[in-house]
Amino acid sequence: MEIVEVMIEAARKAGKILKSGYESNYDIKVKSSSSDLVTSVDIDSQNVIIEVLKKVPDISIMAEESQDKQTDTKRIFYVDPLDGTLNFVHGIPFFGVSIGYWENETPIAGVVYDPLRNELFYGIKGKGAYLNDKRLSARKKELKDSILSTGIPYDRQKIFRTIEETKNILPLVQEVRILGSAALSLCYLAAGRIDGYWEDEIYPWDVAAGIAISTEIGLKITNFDGKRYELKDREIVCALPKIHGEILNALNFKFA
Ligand code: IPD
Ligand code: CA
Ligand code: CA
Repeated sequence: MEIVEVMIEAARKAGKILKSGYESNYDIKVKSSSSDLVTSVDIDSQNVIIEVLKKVPDISIMAEESQDKQTDTKRIFYVDPLDGTLNFVHGIPFFGVSIGYWENETPIAGVVYDPLRNELFYGIKGKGAYLNDKRLSARKKELKDSILSTGIPYDRQKIFRTIEETKNILPLVQEVRILGSAALSLCYLAAGRIDGYWEDEIYPWDVAAGIAISTEIGLKITNFDGKRYELKDREIVCALPKIHGEILNALNFKFA
């Protein structure tokens, strides 16, 4: 069985847990701030994912809700068992499972599953990116016709920067959205539903899968300095190549 097939099996199994958990009662705990939550559904989803991924030997796993964060990045799965927990808790139907597989800091495969819409996004290095059975491809857009997405950092000290950035970019684009799931934002970008995404405080489990998918259709992914994005970076800008530079400029990251 190919690694990506195992990742898809894990994502679908976890998706079932999210879907049934969504309408049920579950425990909620606060993490770093009042908007950073973890539920018992996150944990159940993570347990199932890890159980399935362990079928593939010799690959370390970094999962968001594990205390023990692996540092061996030679061959590694990055797991977010529920991306969009705040949406989930509030009954906003926009969240998913995210599993990325990287080797030596390079994205090899990514799987993101939205269980409520039964949308499976996946990408495999050199083999393209897909939404269910449909192959995704790049397109061109002008900045003025674009919709971008961003996120509000959980660290309240940092939100003013995101507000400033949004103030700079809004007059130049059609609209900015805060979707509440970094993983799905990257997939919506790959699927042509939005055209750019930036965020100030993200972690490997949020974006490792989405990057593997976006890379396959040639999207440009950097940090705020315009350098190729690496998983140690906490800041990301991903967009259609044609507008990526304009976004960096407009957000005032590079040429301040
Ligand atoms: C969060 C979501 C959100 C993003 C945050 C992430 P979580 O993940 O992806 O959209 O703005 O940066 O931490 O906590 O729901 O897994
Ligand atoms: Ca997340
Ligand atoms: Ca999560």
